Amino acid sequence: MIVLDQENKVFTLHTRNATYQMKADRSRVLLHTYYGPRIGGGDLSRLIQYADRGFSPNPSEAGSNRTYSLDTLPQEYSSCGVGDFRLPSIEFEPADGSRLADLRYAGYELKKGKYGLPGLPAFFGGDEWETLVIHLMDSTCKTSVKLFYGVLEECDLITRAVQVVNEGSRPVQLRRCASLCLDFQRGDMDFITFDGCHAQERGLNRSPLRPGVQSVESVRGTSSHHHNPFVILCESGANEDCGTCYGAMLVYSGNFLAAAERTQLENNRLLLGINPYHFCYTLAPGQTFTAPEAALVCSPSGFGQMSRQFHRAIREHLIHDLYEGKRRPVLINNWEATEFHFDAAKLVSIAAAAAPLGIELFVMDDGWFGVRDSDSSGLGDWSVNERKLPGGLEALVPKIQELGMSFGIWIEPEMVSEDSDLYRARPDWALRAPGRPFTRGRSQLVLDFSRKEVRDYVYGAIKQVLGSAGITYVKWDMNRSLTDVWSASLASSRQGELFHRFVLGVYDILDRMRRDFPHILIEGCCGGGGRFDAGMLYYTPQIWCSDNTDAIDRLRIQYGTSFAYPVCAMGSHVSAVPNQQTGRSVSMETRGVVAMAGTFGYEMDLNHTTEEERETIRRQTAFFKEHYDLIQRGDYYRLSDPCAAPYAAWEQAAPGGGEALVSLVYGSNHAAAPFRTLRLKGLNPDALYRVNGGELWRGDVLMAAGFPLPMPTGDYQSLQLYLKAE
Ligand code: GLA
Repeated sequence: MIVLDQENKVFTLHTRNATYQMKADRSRVLLHTYYGPRIGGGDLSRLIQYADRGFSPNPSEAGSNRTYSLDTLPQEYSSCGVGDFRLPSIEFEPADGSRLADLRYAGYELKKGKYGLPGLPAFFGGDEWETLVIHLMDSTCKTSVKLFYGVLEECDLITRAVQVVNEGSRPVQLRRCASLCLDFQRGDMDFITFDGCHAQERGLNRSPLRPGVQSVESVRGTSSHHHNPFVILCESGANEDCGTCYGAMLVYSGNFLAAAERTQLENNRLLLGINPYHFCYTLAPGQTFTAPEAALVCSPSGFGQMSRQFHRAIREHLIHDLYEGKRRPVLINNWEATEFHFDAAKLVSIAAAAAPLGIELFVMDDGWFGVRDSDSSGLGDWSVNERKLPGGLEALVPKIQELGMSFGIWIEPEMVSEDSDLYRARPDWALRAPGRPFTRGRSQLVLDFSRKEVRDYVYGAIKQVLGSAGITYVKWDMNRSLTDVWSASLASSRQGELFHRFVLGVYDILDRMRRDFPHILIEGCCGGGGRFDAGMLYYTPQIWCSDNTDAIDRLRIQYGTSFAYPVCAMGSHVSAVPNQQTGRSVSMETRGVVAMAGTFGYEMDLNHTTEEERETIRRQTAFFKEHYDLIQRGDYYRLSDPCAAPYAAWEQAAPGGGEALVSLVYGSNHAAAPFRTLRLKGLNPDALYRVNGGELWRGDVLMAAGFPLPMPTGDYQSLQLYLKAE
């Protein structure tokens, strides 16, 4: 609910559990007055304190009042070079070379429904949303800034976006444009980020904010394996179930900067948006720049509630799930089984072993096109390699379908191999700077997706493949970071637009694909989880979580991922043992339990399994299908921190607590282990639950006292408890 106090220019956004407020003061500076647990309202600018601070200057209209300083006031969207020395939200340069931005309130609009952003992914929906647009203006530079706020009350979600318009008669260079600036009039907060590397993505890191700026970022052209564009600021005592915390997510898949600053006043500022690194966007007179959307959830009751609100908002208002209300198929992918070395007979044999076990979709991974027997050739040549697959997809797909399975395919549209017909014909289509040697990543180059003719060609080739056979699933991969970022199609003064234009190009093709093939489920991938972000989720309802398929490593990766992203977004498969990445062997049971905390599938040749393992797989797929709604759409509770506890445990509960599924995986085993109980969450305290079809337990007992855990008898054992209220 958005409440306006027009006279005092106070704008209050209420969600179910939180309140957000801003106010334009007498100087038309837009102040941020409050964001936190829901309160009644009123003008909260009385919370703001004024004092003369040494070296905090005063704008001219303050006259002799030395207590009025942009450097100390909580700002809604911070200015640049005119007195606020904290992190600037925006920086632009008009023709005179000044880099000053002094934004003042100029009006507002209020709308029912949700705003959209041209060419960019954004949360969507109908009248359950309200939109507020605040107009700011730098009247000297004649540049206006529109701040968009989308309010989705039920999910405690507030989205933000920014548009900058050059209202003058000469070009303006935009050098920085954050999507979100958030000033907290409090100190004592922790900054939580999700970091790692290829095959070890999104590990949780938490530390108290110390004076100065702390940040995570990507300069790789993708959101990256290394840091995620999702961060949390929280009260220092916050945990899963209590304490106020603020999650901030960027709906964007390219370079980003998430920066938190502890200021001289011992309060904090958070900034999130496109990374100013190599960013400079020229706005011609009349032109508009749209910054990507950011989304905020404030939870007054810990991380669990914050995550559940993000999960719900993403499931219902970001992902275009063509399986909405239905079940996505259980898949088998041939990558870890064969890598590049397969032919049609091999693929059919993998599918044939999977079909009787309840697996429904066969995915042909890398290696089916061009000349592609290793990762050093073929990318860009998107026609079927008939040496491996005689008769092409027209011959292969019916064989898969005869097994009762649907068919999916792998592509990597943004890339080109030097050893490819495409590169030989159009070497100038790859990103590289003139007169310089270029950098290879996985032996490949990146296509200049800022160029429409490049996108049109690549999409044309892919469209032909996707339309040629009964394809129902696509895995869209991207296997290197961007370097040599220079485009032949941009003037030298506009090369700073290229990182962003590349991302827009990716979105353009994804959008075309989604519209042309609405029946195709797209799984995003970037060497696993190198582009696991809300921007991609708008186009690709699921994303391969990590190239690391080791069940034990996956516990930590999926744990970190779960803070922002729902189970239905996390691509997760059972793979063979010893695991290819770690050499570890874990039982089929445990591998299944872990993969079921995601979209669920297999990535191995099931011809090489024992009858006992096949029986386990049969049970797993049947169980997953039976409890699909609970697993994929239930409320998600983290029951342990797998980095700290001797086990990883999580739970999906139906809203209202009618049923729940608890999953637990032990770490390595030790002698004389202590007795342990696991306290459950989200149950109905008064209900009686039948556990795994056996004993009855009261909900309040399971939540207050817990369930006694059986002693593990070896390493990495697992347990699933299905609870049904009677
Ligand atoms: C990436 C993906 C893998 C697989 C290979 C194929 O690494 O993450 O799942 O598709 O590429 O080359």
